[in-house]
This record gives sequence, structure tokens and C-alpha cells, in this order.
Amino acid sequence: MCGVVAVLGKRNASHLVIEGLKKLEYRGYDSAGIASVSQGLLQKIKSEGKLVNLINKLDRSTKDKLYFDNSIALGHTRWATHGNISLENAHPLTSYNKIAVVHNGIIENYQILKEDLISLGYNFKSQTDTEVLPHLFMKYINLGNDLLDAGRLVLKEIKGAFAFVAMSVDFPDQLFVSRNSSPLAIGLGDKANFVGSDAHSIDHLTQRIIYLEDGDHALVKINNINIFDKNYKKVKRKIINIQAEIGLVTKGGYKHFMEKEIFEQPVVLPQTTSSFVRNNSEITIDLDKLGFKNKKSLIICAAGTSYYAGMIGKYWIEQIADIPVTVDLASEYRYRKPSIFGQSSMLVISQSGESLDTLMALRYGKELGLKTNAIINVEGSTIDREVDYSLYTRVGPEIGVASTKSFTSQLVILFIIAACLGKKFNNLKTLQIQKKCHYMNMLPNAIVKMLELESQIKIIAQNIKNSKSVIFLGRGLLYPLALEGALKLKEISYIHAEGFAAGEMKHGPIALIEDDVPVIMFLLSDGNEDKSISNLQEAYSRGAKIILIADKKCIVKASFAHLKVEIPHFENEFQSLLSPILMSIPAQLLAYYVAKERGTDVDQPRNLAKSVTVE
Ligand code: F6R
Repeated sequence: MCGVVAVLGKRNASHLVIEGLKKLEYRGYDSAGIASVSQGLLQKIKSEGKLVNLINKLDRSTKDKLYFDNSIALGHTRWATHGNISLENAHPLTSYNKIAVVHNGIIENYQILKEDLISLGYNFKSQTDTEVLPHLFMKYINLGNDLLDAGRLVLKEIKGAFAFVAMSVDFPDQLFVSRNSSPLAIGLGDKANFVGSDAHSIDHLTQRIIYLEDGDHALVKINNINIFDKNYKKVKRKIINIQAEIGLVTKGGYKHFMEKEIFEQPVVLPQTTSSFVRNNSEITIDLDKLGFKNKKSLIICAAGTSYYAGMIGKYWIEQIADIPVTVDLASEYRYRKPSIFGQSSMLVISQSGESLDTLMALRYGKELGLKTNAIINVEGSTIDREVDYSLYTRVGPEIGVASTKSFTSQLVILFIIAACLGKKFNNLKTLQIQKKCHYMNMLPNAIVKMLELESQIKIIAQNIKNSKSVIFLGRGLLYPLALEGALKLKEISYIHAEGFAAGEMKHGPIALIEDDVPVIMFLLSDGNEDKSISNLQEAYSRGAKIILIADKKCIVKASFAHLKVEIPHFENEFQSLLSPILMSIPAQLLAYYVAKERGTDVDQPRNLAKSVTVE
């Protein structure tokens, strides 16, 4: 989603801003732009599409010396919300070529502000909500305010979730920044300061970071930064030393980040496990911190793939620990009146730690008096900073928009939580706990074996690449995986795909079956496989192309399937308990190879963003 970077006090600031924007590319965007003040004039360049278009334009202008000398610049990658993808709507948005603003989020009351500004004679060139910001700055600066006071007056007028940076030719050594719900970090340099949507976007410039808190605004100058809270009280925010620059994460010889992230799962998942399992046998999660002093029920909130991880978590926690779990879409939880009866604790799951829906659900959970926990990958993210207790997946940056290693690592933590709760509340014996820890240790090798199915999955990808629609089926622990498999396929290959609980087919979705529609089922012999095979048979009888990814026993039973992938042999209990993690691998590979066949932009699929910072 939209990314913001600003540099103050360094020569060639616009090029440094571009370096930062490159690091935000993975979030997903559809246009980009930068603005700087050079020789007293505001210069701006924008382009549609990828950053490379902006860089080419910038290079041409640099040759013309337009941008050669600037020490203040801001830039933006835009993920369209209000207004189509166009040069006019790309940021920075300006007012009379004197003020430039880059913004992430939505100004909810922009329509009324726009009408007021138009009545005052301001001319709007874009369809964006953002354009009210530069005009409001202009209005207040024209009334004699400095940048800080103008910014404060602007904040009084606007509503919504936002993070923005404003710059004016009249104050060429200052940036005004503010955040409300959307993330924003300030980087401290030597006679220079920086602003970015996250720490990573400015870690080529500094490792000293301040995260603004909600409602904060700040005046950033070359030698100092003054931060104020929502009551205009000057405040000090903690300076955090982030890890030395990790620079641009590379693809390590793979064609796409997604491919790399799928194949590195055997290596990174032990990093997840090792934070919570000691001596290969002892779980170190603090249940008191999790809010489980007593047996209570749990509410899990998340979005997208993280939500599906939550669904699997529910199955595990109920099965292993006998604790009731409710799973809710974060975007729903916030806007209904959920009952917290019997609950003491909320668990949110978010790879980025920035999904606004999930953040809002978390805040709401706090308001309701719940103890809040989060499974997150990005340390220092907004959710990490606001939650009571964070459990880190530690799988390194995930750059591909489609979540892969994050999903499996979230599952690892959920499984460990289930085991830990099982020990305390469901009489799980030490030996049983040790076995579960052992299973975690077995996972990397098992995933290596699952990855060896690659060539067979490629054949299936070839087979379904031209399908208009694909159906995924699963039962029990593999039902949420069917939903995840469908999500993965649709988001990167753009083929319409839906996942259903196998038993639900006959209650409606079976109407979708026609000749040659691929129906993909993940199946393991767990005692219920015959039921699922019957469901498959029903689809087969109506002409569907049946694709079965299953263990040997199921493959033999469902010999009618058109295409079959037999998964390697694993110990029974390990295979059935950890089936969602094991079967994630073929689901991810399938989506990846279909997308590759179709030539889509695998890592940055159309319309999608890695960090979804609007509601
Ligand atoms: C799908 C995907 C999204 C995210 C969702 C939540 O592959 O990546 O569905 O899972 O946007 O994101 P996080 O986990 O960052 O809150």
C-alpha cells in the first residue's frame, strides 16, 4: 500500500528518496512520484506504473540539471484508493507549486473540505482525497502561519487514518509530519533527518529510528526534531537502534521472491520454532502473559491468509487444549458488537504488523478489556508496539505480496500455543508435549520432501493454467487450507478460485460444477477420508476435472481422479496433525507455477498491496 519517504539535509535528496521508495516497492503500488525544492522552486516528477518509469524520468531531468542540487525531497508510491491510476492522482499533490504533500491513508471528510476550498478559489486537479492537504496548508500559510502552525490547523480539520509529510518552498529546511493509525518512522542522521513509512525504507540512511505514536505530529529540521502529541504537548519518543542495513533483500538466484520464500521454508521455520521451544522438548511461551491464568476462551482476529492461519489455530487449540476459540475477520470484528463472554484474551495475527483492519480490531479488543497478543513477523511494526505480548515468527522479510513462509510460520506458533495450552488445561503429559516439540523438529525435513513434489505440481499447473475457475475442497484441518489455496491462486494468477468445506459442496456450490472445471482436493487418511472422497465423486459425476493431492491410501481409494499427486509417507499422527503446514507447500507451488505459466507479475500482482494500511 502507499509508501512515503522524505529526506532533509543530504545532497541529492531526491535520489536518496528513490532508494527508499525501492525498498517500499514490495508493498504494492500503481504510480509513483517525487518532489524537491531546488533553487527556491518546487520540482516534481510523477509516473504511472513501476518505479523504473519514475527513475528514467528523473535521470532525464538530472541530465538537464533540474534536480541536480536539492537537499530536501519527498516521494511516494501510490496504491489507488480515491481516483484512478493517473499522473494527476499520483503523489506528491501540490498547491500552487509551493506546497507538496505525500500521504498514506484516507482523509475521510475530504469531500466537504474540498467544497470549502473550491469556494475559496482553490483549483483541484486530481480526484484524490489527499489534494485537500496541500491546499489546506496553503490556506493557513497564506494567513501568516509558519509550517508547524499551519500543520496543526490542518490536523484540526481532517478526519481519518493517515500518515503524511508536507513540504513548502517557503520553509525549505523543514518537513511537517503527522500520523494517525497509519505507520510513520523518523530517522535521525548527522545534520540530516529522514522520514519513511517503515524503518526499512530509510535504513540505508540511518539506523536510529523514532516511531511516531498515534496522534503525534512533528516538525523535522536538519538539526532537530520536535515531536508533539495530540494535545500539542512536546514529547520525547524512544530512539530505537535498528539492525544494520539489510539493504535490498535479494532473490538469491530465484526468479521471484515468492519462489525463494517458498523454498526457504525448511531453513526459516526452525527460526520460528527456536524462539518458543527449548532443548527440543520444552515450550517457553508464558501463558500468564498470553492472558491464560485460568481456562478461558480465546478470540483470534486477522485478515486474509493470516485469518486462515487463525482458523487452523482454532481447530488445533480446540482439539489439543479443549479451549473454545472464536475466529473473526478483523474488518468485521471492529464494526459489530462482539460478545466477550468467557474471553480474557485476544490473539491477532499479522505478518506485516500494519494491517489497519487488524490494528483496529486489536484496539477494539483492548477497549473491551481483553489482554492482547499478536503473532507478527515485522518487529517494531505498529501492532508490535501496541500489543501487550508479541510472538515473532522471525522468518525474515517477506517481499512477495502472496504470503507463504509467513503463513506456515504463523501455523508453527499456533501449534505450539495449542500444545502449551493443552499441557495446562487438557492434561497433556510431558511426553506428549515432547512429542509435539519433536514434530516441530521433524517439519523442515518433511517440507523438503514436500518441495520435491515440484515437478508433479508443474504438470497440474500446465493443466489448469487456462481454466476460468478452480474449486478447492478440504475437510477438517484442511478446510481452511482449501480457502488459502484458492486465495493464493486467485491473487497471483488472476484465475477465479474458491475454496469450500468438502461437505458443503452439496449445499450449493456444486451448482458451479460443469465439464472440465478443476476441483482440487487436499486429502489425508484421517478416518474421515471416505466422506471427502464421496464429495469428490459427486463432482466427478458432474464432469469436473478431479485433481487429488493426497497420501497413498487416499489416492488408491479415489482412483477415479484425473490427476493425482501422491505426497511422501510420514508418520500417521505427525501427518494428520501437521497436515495444514505440509499441504501448504503444494498449494503455494501450484499458485506460483500457474502464475508463472500465465506470465503475471508474481511478486507484485495487480491491485494488491503487501501492507494494507487502509480500512
Ligand atoms: C495473501 C496475503 C494477504 C494477507 C493479509 C493480511 O497472500 O498476503 O491476504 O495475509 O493482507 O496481512 P497481514 O498478515 O500483514 O496482516
